[in-house]
Amino acid sequence: MVIKWVKKGRGGIYWPSKAMKKRAWVSDEKIYKEANKNPIKFWEKLAKEGITWFKKWKKAYVEKPPYFKWFVGGKLNASFNCLDRHLEKRRNKVAIFWEPEPKEERGRVLTYYELYKQVNKFANVLKKLGVKKGDVVGIYLPMIPEAIISMLACARIGAIHTVVFSAFSSEALKIRLQDTDAKFLITADGYYRRGKIINLKEKADEGIKETKVEKVVVVRRLGEKLEVSMKEGRDYWWDELMKKAKDYYKPASMRSEDILFILFSSGTTGRPKGIIHDTGGYLVQAYWTAKWNFDLHEDDIMWCTADLGWITGHTYGCYGILANGATLVMYEGALDWPEPDRWCEIIDKYGVTVFYTAPTAIRMFARYDGRLVKKHDLSSLRILGSVGEVINKEAWLWFFKEVGKGRCPLIDTWWQTETGGTLINALPGIGPFVPCFAGRSFPGTRHEVLDENGKVCKPYQEGNLVQLPPFAPGMLRGLYKNHERYVKTYWSKYGKKIYFTSDGAWKDEKGNFRLTGRVDDVMKVAGHRISTAELEDAITRHYAIAECAIVPMPHEIKGEVPVAFVILKPGFQPSENLEREVVKQAEKYIGPIARPAKVFFVQDLPKTRSGKIMRRILKKLVAREKELGDLSTLANPESIEKIREILS
Ligand code: WTA
Repeated sequence: MVIKWVKKGRGGIYWPSKAMKKRAWVSDEKIYKEANKNPIKFWEKLAKEGITWFKKWKKAYVEKPPYFKWFVGGKLNASFNCLDRHLEKRRNKVAIFWEPEPKEERGRVLTYYELYKQVNKFANVLKKLGVKKGDVVGIYLPMIPEAIISMLACARIGAIHTVVFSAFSSEALKIRLQDTDAKFLITADGYYRRGKIINLKEKADEGIKETKVEKVVVVRRLGEKLEVSMKEGRDYWWDELMKKAKDYYKPASMRSEDILFILFSSGTTGRPKGIIHDTGGYLVQAYWTAKWNFDLHEDDIMWCTADLGWITGHTYGCYGILANGATLVMYEGALDWPEPDRWCEIIDKYGVTVFYTAPTAIRMFARYDGRLVKKHDLSSLRILGSVGEVINKEAWLWFFKEVGKGRCPLIDTWWQTETGGTLINALPGIGPFVPCFAGRSFPGTRHEVLDENGKVCKPYQEGNLVQLPPFAPGMLRGLYKNHERYVKTYWSKYGKKIYFTSDGAWKDEKGNFRLTGRVDDVMKVAGHRISTAELEDAITRHYAIAECAIVPMPHEIKGEVPVAFVILKPGFQPSENLEREVVKQAEKYIGPIARPAKVFFVQDLPKTRSGKIMRRILKKLVAREKELGDLSTLANPESIEKIREILS
């Protein structure tokens, strides 16, 4: 029998069904009020119930704006919480179902015990290579179980991991390794993507030049299919080291505030910033948001489609799920490869109950003939999730009706790399589930919409989304070695006691938030965070280019894509060749995801009198908006007509 987990309300609003309410960990509205009476106490209770501590904290929350700490004095280990503590009850339970991209290849199944053994062994490998507590280890791996094993092994010995998305270029890898002074890197020979073999080791070799990396561990993912060069004394095969490694490594007792990982993310300057997450606070939020948002129970199988190179992969493709002792599905390849319904096949094959993906993927699925979905049995699904960008109504309804068959709550989760875990969304046992609305602040957290002067906006009035203290436990603890940028980015707009998210939003009178997009120069391309400044920086490194402005252009599937306006240096003429080279610059310094969809060669760009490019105007021109807003500060109005001509 197929259970209905939602019921229909009026006016396109959906509510949890009786069955959902009964099953859900939280189904009583009161939770919001109670949590907010004393958020610190609330989180303390959650920390105690959800996480195993070696030593209890002395002080739950300490604020020294713009910094704050949670569970001060507490000691724990993230890998212990994801593995050791499950062994008694869940020794033979599946922790990871791994699905390779090639269909003819067999997948891998790792039970909690198997994963535990591998993590212990690899922790010993790391130690033997010389990794010490507090050292930074770079992880540049495809979506294979070794990526999770590496993360947990770092956590086990108290090393800090910094995962770099495998599709990022060697240049992108390089600056991340340089900024963190990493001495170790874990990578693979290669992997499959859309049926092609990608040589990752080659990129890794290039990326570690001019860094402090001394030792490289290489996973044999492709084996005989790809020959890679290994440097004696620097490069080691994973399997050879593992063969000799001991079976147990005692988990390091870490302070709650010790850094668990650094994850780089794009901001408004040319260089990505290293976002710091601590151990205790992060884990508490990861555990509880995973449990409540996706209503994880013993029989759940969750598939989060995000790559581990992004925060979503960290929290809901690793820590949050494993800390809960649930089963996760990990998939190596493209969701629509070799056929557009590969993702349906995977849901069907493993009996996925929670499917968490991004609007860009949903729009791509929806574009294909709806019958593809009907070919598969998706009745195992209980909960659907969306993340990464604003989800439009059509995509929401398609996902809800065609994939969830109108049975499953669709949880639209708003959060950021900086917040560590989800913060604004409806809870499956409480609802409501409304297209385009993320929902309310997670119990124990508070958000508000402020106008430019810091005044609270009225319901339905658009403004800037902020978080109010006490800040959620999973929030960033700073930017790696960059205090100034930390203050400037998050704590200057409204002062040191209000966290500025850089997102626009409004809310209804019941406190349900509707997000309207970034208010800074960050784009969301297919849900991936890319900064215009970073891309401009990459493109202007080309010898023929004098100046470049990047703006996002609306795109049916990807949400938005970057377009480049380029001014050439004297003596250079626009050509198809140069256009290709502009695109190549993006690939070289960032990766294929940052490729400009269009390149326009222009003579002039709209600028202020002080010479600042007015991207706001370009953005509107690209989106074919007639109303361009305030042009009073524009120094060269004639540039606008010329750009209009080029665009038409
Ligand atoms: C956007 C991803 C609308 C937002 C977890 C945020 C969203 C940025 C949503 C962070 C959502 C994320 N609705 N917008 N449900 N989720 N965003 O750091 O602009 O890759 O600031 O973290 O994505 O992107 P990041």
